[in-house]
Amino acid sequence: MSTNSNSLENTPHILVLGMGGTIAGLASKPEDNPLDYRAGQVGVDSLLTHIESALPSGLTLVSKQVANINSRNLSEELLTELGNVVRSALASPLVMGIVITHGTDTLEETGIFLQLTCGTHALDLGKRVILTGAMLPSNAPRADGPSNLLDAIRWVSTPIDNCPGGIYGVMAGRGCLAMDLAKRHTSALNAPIKDSPSSSVGLINPSWLSGVKAIQAAWTEDLPIPQADTWPWVEILTSHAGARAQTITHWIKANVDGLVLAGSGIGGFHDVWRTPLDEASSKGIALVRSSRTGSGLTYQDIPEKDGVGCLAAGSLAAPKARIALQLAIYAAKQANLTGKPLTWQDFFARIADLPEIR
Ligand code: SIN
Repeated sequence: MSTNSNSLENTPHILVLGMGGTIAGLASKPEDNPLDYRAGQVGVDSLLTHIESALPSGLTLVSKQVANINSRNLSEELLTELGNVVRSALASPLVMGIVITHGTDTLEETGIFLQLTCGTHALDLGKRVILTGAMLPSNAPRADGPSNLLDAIRWVSTPIDNCPGGIYGVMAGRGCLAMDLAKRHTSALNAPIKDSPSSSVGLINPSWLSGVKAIQAAWTEDLPIPQADTWPWVEILTSHAGARAQTITHWIKANVDGLVLAGSGIGGFHDVWRTPLDEASSKGIALVRSSRTGSGLTYQDIPEKDGVGCLAAGSLAAPKARIALQLAIYAAKQANLTGKPLTWQDFFARIADLPEIR
């Protein structure tokens, strides 16, 4: 294996992009308390050096540090930068595939962002982009980062007939479409991988693969990547006991472009929100309704008829629905500039209707 030399960029290679996270984290007393650590401390080149002896022979790896952050601080500017790096790397005939090391806290946001902006591009070019991370810092006694990174590199370099180009996630020996990543546990080693639909890395299950292909067939056009300062402003509001109308009126006054409602149960929200939400909608604020439960579907007009223009998020939980809504609002604006009378709903409905892998 060879890594991280500029000269290697001129030979066919796998590109490994570092974004930070626990996989690049360091604990001050790893033996005593590995959960007391700082994320984003170690460079991606060092992460690769640690697994060098276990890598399949004949691979050339080139690493690039895009950021080294705790992903709870992920910004829209950084998503723009990552999206542009991924797009141009996919277009290069020398890049055979891309692995991204990332914090797990917002892995699902980056996953859906890359699926919606680069997924078709990756499929058409037959290249895989694989996101991975870790739940234990790099110097913890049983650090999970090295095996996750190895799995990601092995998967990205597997012959293409086995698994098509696209955007995937790998953690704890399981792989899934990146848009299915969903961190629903604070500390379990498989926290970002949803239980049932994922597949064992290296043993790709045919029914899972047919689900992947169904989604890829339905997602046929990538959305534009917003420039760093042109992301629409969208907030997530959670409905709960004792919710207040002022929560909605506050955001109307703040001039947000959209709101994602994380409703209770099947996605219903507190009755006190009904009137201010109608006002938000009449002022042109985009409204999407999801569920705070963290899994299952949100359906249109259930549990009550939706207000004018409000869309249900389907299988998207609130953090993913928020990225999807931002991209949908931006795509509609870009379409309008070229004379196409499309709305954010046209784009969002395509995303929310994508089939789920069961
Ligand atoms: C982060 O998301 O950067 C910290 C947590 C993690 O990677 O698991």
